[in-house]
Amino acid sequence: MTGSWRAADIPDLSGRVAVVTGTSSGLGAVIAAELAGRGAHVIHGVRDPAAVPGVDARRLDLADLDVVAGFAGSVDGFDVLVNNAGVMWPPLRRTRQGFEWQFGVNHLGHFALTALLWPRRRPGARVVTMSSILHRTGRLDLADPNYLHRRYSPEGAYAQSKYANVVFGLELHRRGGMSVVAHPGYARSRLQTSGPTGVRAAVGRVMNPVFGQPASVGALPALFAATAPEAVSGSFVGPSFLQLWGGPVVVAPVSGARDAALGERLWAVSEELTGIPFAV
Ligand SMILES: NC(=O)c1ccc[n+]([C@@H]2O[C@H](COP(=O)([O-])OP(=O)(O)OC[C@H]3O[C@@H](n4cnc5c(N)ncnc54)[C@H](OP(=O)(O)O)[C@@H]3O)[C@@H](O)[C@H]2O)c1
Repeated sequence: MTGSWRAADIPDLSGRVAVVTGTSSGLGAVIAAELAGRGAHVIHGVRDPAAVPGVDARRLDLADLDVVAGFAGSVDGFDVLVNNAGVMWPPLRRTRQGFEWQFGVNHLGHFALTALLWPRRRPGARVVTMSSILHRTGRLDLADPNYLHRRYSPEGAYAQSKYANVVFGLELHRRGGMSVVAHPGYARSRLQTSGPTGVRAAVGRVMNPVFGQPASVGALPALFAATAPEAVSGSFVGPSFLQLWGGPVVVAPVSGARDAALGERLWAVSEELTGIPFAV
């Protein structure tokens, strides 16, 4: 795997059903379009279905587990689930069930969605979970994942949520699911300007055009993970050059995220917080 894999290499997906979260912009929009372009029926999980006209778009708000349950209940079966939606660096706010927003949306919402969809998977179904190179700067504080007792940091909470994405994806693999984790490097999208406020958003506006690669390239690791026959369960796929830019290659997550005991603990905490048992 040399990083030369391109969207043109996506195999024929006729008859396959793909569920993709967060397709109203950025990487999710590209992922959904490429999967549909190869013949998949794509179910778009979006907060506002009117924002993505002309496709099978259904309401999914990962910040409200009741809405997640309603969305999952509308899906009869799936071959591919891409847990892509995400938010970065917002000021402290809480989801409907009281979770810190980034841990709640980026991790717990997707944990709940995957758990609820799991019984509806078709043979060979894969789950792709989108993390970030910034998971490397994070740690998982399972004693207080929702910042109830410690000082909130937008950067710390984002890194924690993306760390959780890696730990979850690897644990799903250990439990027997076909699960691949991906990250896009640095891609131009709304992420860096819609979540943060003030100086953080201003920095994003300046940095994106200079350092961001097109979303069409940033989407390739997730597309590889979702479709390539050679994608390996339990692997982490990211961009080839400095893990920031370029085509997909297998990369290494930060070593602590591979800890099986941590995976078990995150699983248990996620089941407890969401109230959703997830037996693989
Ligand atoms: N761009 C990068 O450089 C980069 C780097 C590392 C990782 N990532 C990851 O890549 C993924 C996609 O990000 P992006 O860059 O494409 O950003 P984006 O353009 O901001 O897209 C994020 C998507 O997530 C959706 N979303 C946000 N909150 C949601 C919620 N509560 N419920 C359901 N959907 C929600 C957004 O929908 P709305 O239209 O409803 O807001 C949007 O469709 C994220 O997981 C992000 O962490 C991106």
